[in-house]
Amino acid sequence: MERGTNYERRPKEVPSEAPPFVIKGRDEAEGRATKKMAQVSLKDVSKIYPGNIQAVHTISLGVENREFVVLVGPSGCGKSTILRMIAGLEDVTKGEIWIGNKMVNDVPPKDRDIAMVFQNYALYPHMTVYENMSFTLKLRKYPKREIKTRVKEAADILGIAKLLNRRPKELSGGQRQRVAVGRAIVRKPLVFLFDEPLSNLDAKMRVQMRAELNKLHIRLQSTMIYVTHDQTEAMTMGNRIVVMKDGIIQQIADPITLYDKPVNKFVAGFMGSPPMNFIKGRIIKKDSKFFFTEDSFTMKIIEDMYKKLAPYEGKEVFFGIRPEDIYDKLFTSQASSENTVKAVVEMVEPMGAESYLYIAIGKSSLIARVGGHDKPEVNQDIDLVLDMSKAHFFNKDTEEIII
Ligand SMILES: Nc1ncnc2c1ncn2[C@@H]1O[C@H](COP(=O)(O)OP(=O)(O)OP(=O)(O)O)[C@@H](O)[C@H]1O
Ligand SMILES: [Mg+2]
Repeated sequence: MERGTNYERRPKEVPSEAPPFVIKGRDEAEGRATKKMAQVSLKDVSKIYPGNIQAVHTISLGVENREFVVLVGPSGCGKSTILRMIAGLEDVTKGEIWIGNKMVNDVPPKDRDIAMVFQNYALYPHMTVYENMSFTLKLRKYPKREIKTRVKEAADILGIAKLLNRRPKELSGGQRQRVAVGRAIVRKPLVFLFDEPLSNLDAKMRVQMRAELNKLHIRLQSTMIYVTHDQTEAMTMGNRIVVMKDGIIQQIADPITLYDKPVNKFVAGFMGSPPMNFIKGRIIKKDSKFFFTEDSFTMKIIEDMYKKLAPYEGKEVFFGIRPEDIYDKLFTSQASSENTVKAVVEMVEPMGAESYLYIAIGKSSLIARVGGHDKPEVNQDIDLVLDMSKAHFFNKDTEEIII
């Protein structure tokens, strides 16, 4: 498990040229959007709420200028707390938060140059879209013309220019969401913080807004920190993903690294849908070959993995395999006597392009993901082929990955 320093390299998708989003007028004259750096760093940050509730345990995280970082983890793992501490809405119990080259622990929220978009949008019901979007600029006494330019530009970006005179109750959920984002954009903050902004939308709208926020990041080239408990959202949106559990960072990596090289069983099981299958069993050695056995079935381990697994000979481990690495023998050329096992199909979920098979092997259950037209019948016996080159093994006690 990674704790403490997690300052990893920025992946290459992060834009590196000057941002194109400069609203003409005052900001351009100030050279504002082009010059300010908006890294965010958390250094050994902890949060203990009254009642000795430790929500965040000594986390360190460096978000690069213009990076899109997603915090993901189950409910209660401390995601919102982290975002609220960055925004200044919650005090930091221990540690330091830096924005740009300034430590902001004692800087009030309004001076942090950050805009936050919440799950419930928090629009003012009695104000029009225009008034909602311009409200904070008005409070900050921006000139009327400047406000108008900014609102118009943001409304164009978000495709809500025709809705400016409506009130929130006259909008769909997706439109309200855009207004909430627009209200953040007009401020041209150094950093955008999003706390589950799509969770009130229906599934289709969520997918659409997800793509729009991705485009927005490319267009604005701003630093964004995005919180979600949805692993699909995390995988599809982040340059890097921070996986959290119980207030502790489990792993920070780009989406594919997280998927292919999870550091522990929690990350392996959290990222991916349907999730990775886990089977508890033992490593055994026979005729100088290593096998994984779960009493009712035994699989040969590939030789590349022998070295890492040798210390576990005779011991219990978790074997992990993703649904897409399991095949019906009829539809693969990889089958051999050493990676094939008899199984029973208990349920089939057709998804269209693919089908999920719920399978029993011995005492264990697995989900396999097969082609939509390759599906067997319920209660049918099949020969299941596991691609053992894609298998993972986890320490039974620490749940850290072995290989
Ligand atoms: N104001 C508070 N006072 C006391 N405990 C709190 C407070 N706010 C949050 N907590 C606790 O801190 C922990 C982290 O909460 P947080 O809201 O950060 O979780 P989260 O990851 O955002 O969860 P969710 O996905 O449900 O929004 C939880 O155990 C929660 O009960
Ligand atoms: Mg939350």
